[in-house]
Amino acid sequence: MINRETIDKIMETARIEEVVGDFVHLKKRGTSLIGNCPFHGEKTPSFHVSVSKGIYKCFGCGKGGDSVRFVMEHEKYSYPEALKFLAQKYNIEVEETVETVQDVEAQNARESLYIVSQFAGNFFEDQLWNTPEGKAIGLSYFKERGFREDIIKKFNLGYSPDFWDALTQDAVKNKHAEEYLEKTGLAIRNDKGKLYDRFRGRVMFPIHNFTGRIIGFGGRTLKTDKNVPKYVNSPESDIYHKSNVLYGLFHAKKAIRDTDNCYLVEGYADVLAVHQAHIENVVASSGTSLTIEQIRLIGRFTQNVTILYDGDAAGIKASLRGLDMILEEGLNVKVVSFPTGDDPDSYMHKVGAGAFKSYIEDNRQDFILYKANILLAEAGKDPIKRAGIIRDIVESIAKIPDNIKASVFIRECSRLLEVEERILLSELNTMRAAKLKKSSTSSARQPQHPDLPPDNLFADDEAVVTMETMPDDELQEQEIVRLLLAFGHELVSWDKIDNMYIGSFIMQNLTDVTFENTLCKKIIDHYRIEIENGQLPTANHFIKSEDRAIADLAITLSTSPYTLSENWYNKHNIYVRDETVNLKATILGGLYHLKKRKVDRILLDLLKEIKSENDATNQEILMQRYAFIKNVEKEISKFLGSVIVK
Ligand code: UTP
Ligand code: MN
Repeated sequence: MINRETIDKIMETARIEEVVGDFVHLKKRGTSLIGNCPFHGEKTPSFHVSVSKGIYKCFGCGKGGDSVRFVMEHEKYSYPEALKFLAQKYNIEVEETVETVQDVEAQNARESLYIVSQFAGNFFEDQLWNTPEGKAIGLSYFKERGFREDIIKKFNLGYSPDFWDALTQDAVKNKHAEEYLEKTGLAIRNDKGKLYDRFRGRVMFPIHNFTGRIIGFGGRTLKTDKNVPKYVNSPESDIYHKSNVLYGLFHAKKAIRDTDNCYLVEGYADVLAVHQAHIENVVASSGTSLTIEQIRLIGRFTQNVTILYDGDAAGIKASLRGLDMILEEGLNVKVVSFPTGDDPDSYMHKVGAGAFKSYIEDNRQDFILYKANILLAEAGKDPIKRAGIIRDIVESIAKIPDNIKASVFIRECSRLLEVEERILLSELNTMRAAKLKKSSTSSARQPQHPDLPPDNLFADDEAVVTMETMPDDELQEQEIVRLLLAFGHELVSWDKIDNMYIGSFIMQNLTDVTFENTLCKKIIDHYRIEIENGQLPTANHFIKSEDRAIADLAITLSTSPYTLSENWYNKHNIYVRDETVNLKATILGGLYHLKKRKVDRILLDLLKEIKSENDATNQEILMQRYAFIKNVEKEISKFLGSVIVK
């Protein structure tokens, strides 16, 4: 554990504009800096950095946070890794403290797995380059396949000697505990309790995680014997989870980001070959079919995936389904297929690096159209088969979350399939409706992505549409939270109020209000407790909250002034454009809009109650209550009206 003082020092020192500025070209606009968001592809900048608040926020993709969060997101680091990265940047000495014995043990155990894996990596590499057996068998094999030395070195390829326990012996001799050799699967214990090597007489492909540490291996046999498995792989371990690892990602991540595209291939050999053709944005799913975690991992770097296929028709058809999953994640999928019998590796070695590069540039096709073409060719003129294809294709299109993109495909497929656009569209809508119905019954009333609650506020015109349909009183409640964060520390004297913090003023005026939105409620409750303890919390207090949801909301709300939609203001008759000019109106407006909303809701409920009440006396009582509350509502409206006039 990095101790508190060190973390505070890093937080104080790491200036957001410097940290972000290392990765994003920032330009000054008004009080903030803006640039193109590094987390999603965009041509017009919607990525804001607030120097005074020490935070960034992208209004395109919603990502936001402080310096540490930026490094975590951008470099895919864990929290401590990000802190260490910043400490190094600013020459801050990192002091670590010990939490609990269990923490330390777990940490140490994982670390030991990394260390022994690195040791094995070095051992295999040394065998390949420096031993007669490794050179004669392993190295010459790679060279025969056409791999250059720089590529072999870059990927730390190795060789495991054809001997019972060569690695195990060397590891034990170097004081590595047998426990970790076993836990990484590098060694296996036999019936007699003796350890032997998992990898023997194979060329070795170390698998790195995205920070570059070795977490496992794939070992390829050099025998052509069909009874010998071609690859032996490390088993799952505490540091190696196959479903969320992509082979080559560590070496590819920078190029993926730079080119805004990720090539996806099947095998280790393909990754090496494509690299050798000077295309570095390539990863492999390594034999298993692509998992959702792997797709999301790619999605953290780019929204564009290009699949490089072997030219083997059976394999292609089998994988078409899997690709729908990528569409569903909102990524754009293109494919390049190679001539029958070739995979990226064999094709690269056949035609050479230059021709290979032009081939994949000239032959990439959009996945949906590619799929349509393949299925069409297969169906021929058979009308029943063709009808099936239409469903199949539209099913894929229905997976695309972006409506505009989907409609482009509908148009193109209409041409390709010779079916009217209208028919495809109605098919698409039927599928979407069915899907919606399914998801709405399974996840009760969750209209938006839970991670992005407040973004509706900022989506300009769209926000107006969603306003009315918005559940509960979320917008009004968020506005109060925003006011607290933005102005809580301002001292004001209004009318009978003398020198009071806005934070206290707002809280005093909320005693009769119940917050519906759990996140807002959490923040308000917390604010109240702090005030009761004599503290006035700052926006930073919430921005730095350990509760991710709270921090996210605080960040979004703290960065809102430049995007609050004018439409929103107009529609709801909120009076001031620059809210700091008339702070009183802003604060009272926020409070009274919330109160009006609550009162409106009570009135609505009362009305329902009155309608369903059969007993005349009860009805009378309810009517009286209604009249009373209606008066309150009028007062509030009048008040809001009078503020508006000012
Ligand atoms: P390939 O058979 O295409 O392997 O399997 P390759 O890497 O291209 O190997 P070469 O060209 O024959 O040398 C694709 C991937 O599937 C996994 C490996 O990750 C391999 O890279 N695989 C394959 C296994 O895990 N086990 C196997 O027995 C075969
Ligand atoms: Mn291959």
